Amino acid sequence: GGLTSLGLLALTGSLAGCGRQNEVQLPAAPTAALPIPPLADSRVEDGVRVFDLAARPGTMDLLPGFPTPTAGFNGPFLGPTLRASRGERVRVRVANELDEATSVHWHGMHLPPEMDGGPHQPVAAGDTWEPEWLIDQPAATLWYHPHPHGETQRHVNLGLAGLFVVDDQDTPAGLPGEYGVDDVPVIVQDKMVGEEGGFLLDTSGNEIGILGSTLLVNGARNPFFEVSSQRVRLRLLNASTARTYNFGFADSREFALIASDGGLLASPVPLASIRLSPAERAEIVVEMAPGETIMLRSGRVELGAVAVPAAFGGEDEFDVLELRAAGELAPSPPVPGTLARIERLRVEDAAGLRDFRLADRKINSKEMDMGRIDEVVRVGSTEVWEVRNTNPYPHNFHVHDVQFQVVSIDGQDPPPELGGLKDTIYLEPRRVYRIIMRFEDYTSAKVPYMYHCHLLLHEDEGMMGQFVVLEDGEPVPAGIPATDH
Ligand code: C2O
Ligand code: CU
Repeated sequence: GGLTSLGLLALTGSLAGCGRQNEVQLPAAPTAALPIPPLADSRVEDGVRVFDLAARPGTMDLLPGFPTPTAGFNGPFLGPTLRASRGERVRVRVANELDEATSVHWHGMHLPPEMDGGPHQPVAAGDTWEPEWLIDQPAATLWYHPHPHGETQRHVNLGLAGLFVVDDQDTPAGLPGEYGVDDVPVIVQDKMVGEEGGFLLDTSGNEIGILGSTLLVNGARNPFFEVSSQRVRLRLLNASTARTYNFGFADSREFALIASDGGLLASPVPLASIRLSPAERAEIVVEMAPGETIMLRSGRVELGAVAVPAAFGGEDEFDVLELRAAGELAPSPPVPGTLARIERLRVEDAAGLRDFRLADRKINSKEMDMGRIDEVVRVGSTEVWEVRNTNPYPHNFHVHDVQFQVVSIDGQDPPPELGGLKDTIYLEPRRVYRIIMRFEDYTSAKVPYMYHCHLLLHEDEGMMGQFVVLEDGEPVPAGIPATDH
């Protein structure tokens, strides 16, 4: 009897009238087994690994009697995990079965700009788009999500997102690697569920976007996972639109951070917690004793010199995923002491230093303009970018096409968790971040790559810029040809 349980629901939120809905505080749900996004089927055609992804509408049951409208790839919510190896060519047949245009961006992937799936590659309702590229980067947990101009927050919030796991030959033996068994995707999103079941797009309570009180992990509330081995690897993705998390275990046990956005760290970093802002990933390995149960949580998060941390979700705490160890666990080898060889880019080799100031909804005082080229980069060059958030509230910074390394924060070495490859970095207010990256292979004077804040409200409202990668000496075009929307 669904409707009776409605009486247990408390209503919160401050928005009254005007037909606007309050956020519903869902009662603690009976826990469910963690859904594991299926590995996407693929076939090899003429040496190319081909995947099919269809974006389509769906529903989810959160509020009895009020189905929640959602969207997903190949299913009602989220999407399958695409998986391919370095050196393979891949093609994805993206079918848009929504009733509006969208796009699919391969977040963290090094690939030609016309395959990038940003705002210049919209896929109209009913159309398909078939990007193809060579996987040429280290093993990593990447992801995909829509990036339509001005609509990214809404599309991602509906559930359009999935993982893209890259494998390579250099990954050392000994890391847990059986998908869904001891190598487990953990996609975390907060939602504001409205009185009629829908995900609210209410960004009026603060400066940064949607901060919901309902947590979905791979699309499930309060899930548990049955651990069958001594060590388990969690691939954490913050797929929220605005919220930053601070992941750790309820008993404060140490875990090994083995990878950041762009792949394995040089060596594992022992940590008790890891902060992830929207779009950031972390792979962690945790050890368990037979029969024990531990809770992966998100605790209070240090957001830097933020005016009122509570207003930006800094005080919120969530249970994320309960890990239940079996009475007998298969032995796992210890985490290797050396994980990857990361070629350190050297500041002395950098062609120059560019400045990026994030404030309000602008970067360097400019709002996103699809027709404007903001930065021109030369192919093969190494650059240092100096990035800062001059607002008293959170922003982060994401660069397409490349993985960067953090040179310094306020002139100091970065902490070890920021010592590997990154494509997105949280910007504590008023600190100066220097990042270094090399722009390889792909050039185009007509199709730009993006850099932006990955708090999706900010991105949609204009906190984004465009860069082109040109051959040496290639003339700079006046602008970007218009994209048909
Ligand atoms: Cu994950 Cu330009 O985005
Ligand atoms: Cu921002």
